[in-house]
Amino acid sequence: TVLVVDFGAQYAQLIARRVRECHVYSEIVPSTMPVEEMLAKKPKAIILSGGPSSVYAEGAPKVPDGLFETGVPTFGICYGFQAMAQTLGGTVARTGLAEFGGTPLAVVSEGVLFDGLPERQSVWMSHGDSVTAAPDGFRVTASTEATPVAAFENPDRGLYGVQFHPEVLHSEHGQAVLRHFLYEGAGCRPSWTMLNIVEDAVEAVRRQVGPNGRAICGLSGGVDSAVAAAMVQRAIGDRLTCVFVDHGLLRKGEAEQVEKDFVAATGVDLHVVDAAERFLSALAGVTDPEEKRKIIGREFIRVFEEAQREIMAEGPVEFLVQGTLYPDVVESGGGTGTANIKSHHNVGGLPEDMKFELVEPLRTLFKDEVRQAGEELGLPPAMVWRQPFPGPGLGIRIVGEVTKERLDILREADAIAREELSRAGLDREIWQCPVVLLADVRSVGVQGDERTYGHPVVLRPVSSEDAMTADWSRVPYDVLARISTRITNEVREVNRVVLDLTSKPPATIEWE
Ligand code: XMP
Repeated sequence: TVLVVDFGAQYAQLIARRVRECHVYSEIVPSTMPVEEMLAKKPKAIILSGGPSSVYAEGAPKVPDGLFETGVPTFGICYGFQAMAQTLGGTVARTGLAEFGGTPLAVVSEGVLFDGLPERQSVWMSHGDSVTAAPDGFRVTASTEATPVAAFENPDRGLYGVQFHPEVLHSEHGQAVLRHFLYEGAGCRPSWTMLNIVEDAVEAVRRQVGPNGRAICGLSGGVDSAVAAAMVQRAIGDRLTCVFVDHGLLRKGEAEQVEKDFVAATGVDLHVVDAAERFLSALAGVTDPEEKRKIIGREFIRVFEEAQREIMAEGPVEFLVQGTLYPDVVESGGGTGTANIKSHHNVGGLPEDMKFELVEPLRTLFKDEVRQAGEELGLPPAMVWRQPFPGPGLGIRIVGEVTKERLDILREADAIAREELSRAGLDREIWQCPVVLLADVRSVGVQGDERTYGHPVVLRPVSSEDAMTADWSRVPYDVLARISTRITNEVREVNRVVLDLTSKPPATIEWE
């Protein structure tokens, strides 16, 4: 394990991911964790992340006492670099020469970190304070125009540091610097491979559930629940029952993907509930977005509970499988064994009074790792690479009342947009592209010699890292043109296609 000590920057998760990309397992811990607790995790190396404060600021996070005396190889980045310098007797000062963004770096001594790398490289900087003198026993290995001490190391003590951010892609050789620290500086081995990850996770589930335990898992059609279910299936076979509530609000082909392709690929024991009619009648006449979400969430839980009762009639079920990911665990403070789902965000969020022990085989994984694990487990690619899709589904992409006819219209338009984006090779580049039907809006058009009075659909392609913020994607005009032409030709009720050019904030990604 490599511990990434989080000094409060949004960079800690990125660092942890980059470490794993070097095939070394990493975990994020808070900077307030005492050193004994860190050592109990038997770390091979420790990385100190960047952070927003100045090391001199009041209340600035401190390096845990005794960290540099543990003998565990340690790598300080940005704030971590300055904190290391300050703790070990170097000096850190506000020189007035801040650096932000791409900055040329000169390697003055290769050492371990820059071994074999070009003497001049561009690195990503973001700092106001600078290290003005390295601690005794440290060799300065790189500098920039504004920052003479931009990297230093003391290989005898296993201590390394850089002022720049090796974890961001704008640092040309950042990944190599990190790899050098991990392999040469800390003696880590690249053993964190997808095959091992899947095998370990399967073994852990086997241990947790025991030889006779039974589990259920709700499938949403999304990648997380699918991968979690496939792992648990591999561990306990048909002692797992999956429940798929088809609420009739999925996109074209998605229910079939779960019921046929997923089952064929995994051999999962699947319990399908076709609840489309029930959801439609519950949604009849409802136009308020929050009201829709509440109704869909409520109906979902009721249907799931009924299915669960049927399954429990065949014998007790002690475990509930959930596709909780590592970022959710970290963001909610980590640690405990409770579900950390953002409840308003998950139609699969289950009632609290259900007494199950949770099985969360993806708790240590990032999204991209979940996708790789899905590939390793042989899941259908369309499922593994599916873009984020909200739990309430197309129900919140029809502005106005949700009806069967409107769902059918939207499903057709959405399928065309997805097909063309994927044909243009953009579906992995774009974060997601909701297609929204403005069901209560009509506009005049002309097709052939006839006047039409149809509905507009909105294309909402966005790029994002984590859906917290987003920008509208610059999809090439010819791709947009094809989507527009095909939708207006092939979906009779639609006579206008419009593009949403708003970032988030001020807008959200979804329209409701
Ligand atoms: P917004 O519209 O809030 O969406 O910018 C951010 C991300 O969350 C997804 N989303 C949901 N996902 N249940 C979900 O599982 C929901 O109720 C829900 N609402 C929004 C949305 O698709 C985007 O990826």
